Amino acid sequence: MVSFTVNGRAVDVAAEPDTPLLWAIRDHLRLTGTKFGCGVGLCGACTVHVNGKAERSCQVALEDVKGAAVTTIEGLAPDAGHPLQKAWIAEQVPQCGYCQSGQIMKAAELLARTRAPTREQIVTHMDGNLCRCGTYVRIVAAIQRAAKEG
Ligand code: FES
Ligand code: FES
Repeated sequence: MVSFTVNGRAVDVAAEPDTPLLWAIRDHLRLTGTKFGCGVGLCGACTVHVNGKAERSCQVALEDVKGAAVTTIEGLAPDAGHPLQKAWIAEQVPQCGYCQSGQIMKAAELLARTRAPTREQIVTHMDGNLCRCGTYVRIVAAIQRAAKEG
């Protein structure tokens, strides 16, 4: 049993200690906004925050989040009202949508640290979060919009 918080709620997950956090989130806690892409740390679709830091949840063992505060896309903001979520809608970023919760969680880490990132900072920070639909230009535009309007 591993105890931690998810989106501010205390949870206990009964699973093997080396279970990837991704599966604890999706299968045990039924929070399916976090996606399985590659399973080997290469795509970023599974990105969540652990104590405020963006982590690839397929690469984090359940035992390593004992006592930690985990945030998923469902808990990023009440009523999906985070400036990034509003900007994502305004810029109509998603195509298939599969990668997008990971993109937003990664971008949220940047804006939490850097209120007005340059385009270069955005591109560097988001590098490695893959989008098979190629929405990269709109992702950058949405982050710039969120930084301006948020
Ligand atoms: S599913 Fe975790 S990085 Fe691809
Ligand atoms: S919107 Fe389809 S993978 Fe990114």
